[in-house]
Amino acid sequence: MAAEQHDDTVTPSDAEVNLAIHRPHTARMYDYFLDGTTNFPADREAAGHALAVFPQAPFAARANRAFMHRATRALARSGITQFLDIGTGIPTSPNLHEIAQRTEPRARIVYADNDPIVLTHAQALLHSSPEGRTAYVQADVREPEALLEAVRATGVLDFTRPIALSLVALLHFVPEGAHEIAETLRNAMTVRGSALVMSHFTPDYAPQDAARMERVYRDNGNPVRARDHDEFSRFFTGWDLLDPGITSTPRWRPEPDAERISDAQASCLAAVAVRP
Ligand SMILES: C[S@@+](CC[C@H](N)C(=O)[O-])C[C@H]1O[C@@H](n2cnc3c(N)ncnc32)[C@H](O)[C@@H]1O
Repeated sequence: MAAEQHDDTVTPSDAEVNLAIHRPHTARMYDYFLDGTTNFPADREAAGHALAVFPQAPFAARANRAFMHRATRALARSGITQFLDIGTGIPTSPNLHEIAQRTEPRARIVYADNDPIVLTHAQALLHSSPEGRTAYVQADVREPEALLEAVRATGVLDFTRPIALSLVALLHFVPEGAHEIAETLRNAMTVRGSALVMSHFTPDYAPQDAARMERVYRDNGNPVRARDHDEFSRFFTGWDLLDPGITSTPRWRPEPDAERISDAQASCLAAVAVRP
């Protein structure tokens, strides 16, 4: 479970960006599930309520993170050198750029998140390989045009070449309009061979647990929407799913030495698709 030691110190720069530490944030609750130390008492209290109804949350978080690693590695090995990761989360090594640059040191990555705490820790995301580049933008996926403009302004990604868009454990935090947002983002990835990596909370494997989890998050001010297989598949409309198609997070191209996590523990769907 979460580490014993937590650094609850708020530095002047933290205060300037208004971390609102007295209310729970999804990034910090996720950090707690991953055994991280970037969370505050309000986050830990809300995470405790979540664990009471969904004790598998730490398994789900680890399975999700491991899926992101495998999908990123697969795409880097297939020749993709550009990544846009929206809903980055508090840095947890290895981060996406570390995975991609281990395979392709020239890889370029732009990270985006709307939580100010991710911004205050973004330095860890900016340690690029010398050959590659990384950048961080603070932006909200619910305003996809503005987010894309901020990403373009970094000059890190070349939109005339394939880009892998990563929306990992993000769009369940957007109860309404998520499909339109994904479509706007997909439409910006105009080049054949661009990719979409997604995972998403689902009621498909443990419906009652998922419904309880939705209630806990709604009550702590962070509405969540679990989506089933059909709703999830619509995020990829017109793109080609890579093998093995849509699975639970631990079943997407599992590696032999991976931690054994069941579909119900993971309770997240996962897929990678490419623009034909
Ligand atoms: C569960 S974490 C996932 C982190 C990482 N993608 C992973 O899978 O390990 C979700 C992240 O999405 C971010 N997020 C939630 N709503 C968002 C929004 N509207 N715009 C941008 N980021 C958002 C949260 O701040 C948090 O960092």
